[in-house]
Amino acid sequence: MGFAIIAPPTQTKKWEIEFNKQAPNEDLLIGYETENPEEIECVLVWGHPKGSLEKFKNLKLIFSMGAGVDHILNDETIPKNIPISRIVDPQMAFSMTNYILMAVLNYQRCWYDFQDSQRKGHWAQFEFDEKILSIGILGIGHLGMDAADAFHRLGFKVSGYSNSPKKTIFPSFHGNQFEDFLADINVLVCTVPLTPKTKGLLNFELFCKLNYPTYLVNVSRGGVHIERDIVRAIDEGKLTGAFLDVFEKEPLPKDSPLWQNPKIKITPHIASLTYAKESIRQALENFRRVKQGNKLLNEVNRQNMY
Ligand code: GLV
Repeated sequence: MGFAIIAPPTQTKKWEIEFNKQAPNEDLLIGYETENPEEIECVLVWGHPKGSLEKFKNLKLIFSMGAGVDHILNDETIPKNIPISRIVDPQMAFSMTNYILMAVLNYQRCWYDFQDSQRKGHWAQFEFDEKILSIGILGIGHLGMDAADAFHRLGFKVSGYSNSPKKTIFPSFHGNQFEDFLADINVLVCTVPLTPKTKGLLNFELFCKLNYPTYLVNVSRGGVHIERDIVRAIDEGKLTGAFLDVFEKEPLPKDSPLWQNPKIKITPHIASLTYAKESIRQALENFRRVKQGNKLLNEVNRQNMY
């Protein structure tokens, strides 16, 4: 039996070291070039080149090293009958929640204004008030729910929206209640997976339905937003600004107008990183389950795309 890790080099090294620690007796291929593709039964992937899994005819499990699986499902050459599972890790939720807290609290406590004042050597004691926020978490899956719970516990007004009804400790909306969800918020935090339904969802038309003005945080996928529309909505005062970790094209092109927009804060898709130890543990556990014919942990529903 054989495993393969197919991922960008910076990630691969950590995952390889951890794999060899946890499964020292298993064969591990790095990348997809091999003369014996029939030996590979399990692939651990992040951003594999399209078509690169096709030659593994004895594949039994595709394990996503990322929480989102659009990088796998966008490859139409992936065999239909192979189960896909994805990492679901409390530590990833911890780090994603901290990122979202940082983005929202910097905004709420006017951090950028104080930074500006400091640069000018100006004591701006009573110039900027705490903002009164009503935070909407669009997508209350594992990660979105964790962030929403954290805001709720801190005493913020928070609500959530998901496709199907969820049990929550804060008000939540689902299905055709999307506009009700949007009606009462002034911070929109997007944590939805990229699917045909969410592609381009954060567009100008949606921004026009928001309370004026609203702050946007996107930590899901760049394909969910339209960057041109974010800039226009900021220019027209519909959005106060945006805190973005994901982009239509990554790395964000050097000539993107987002870089220089003072109301847009940018991080390079780092909101929540994959932790090697837990990911490898879950991949090995799931492969064991496939072999034993047991139910997989966190199996992806291909229809839903998450
Ligand atoms: C990162 O974006 C992930 O999907 O884990």
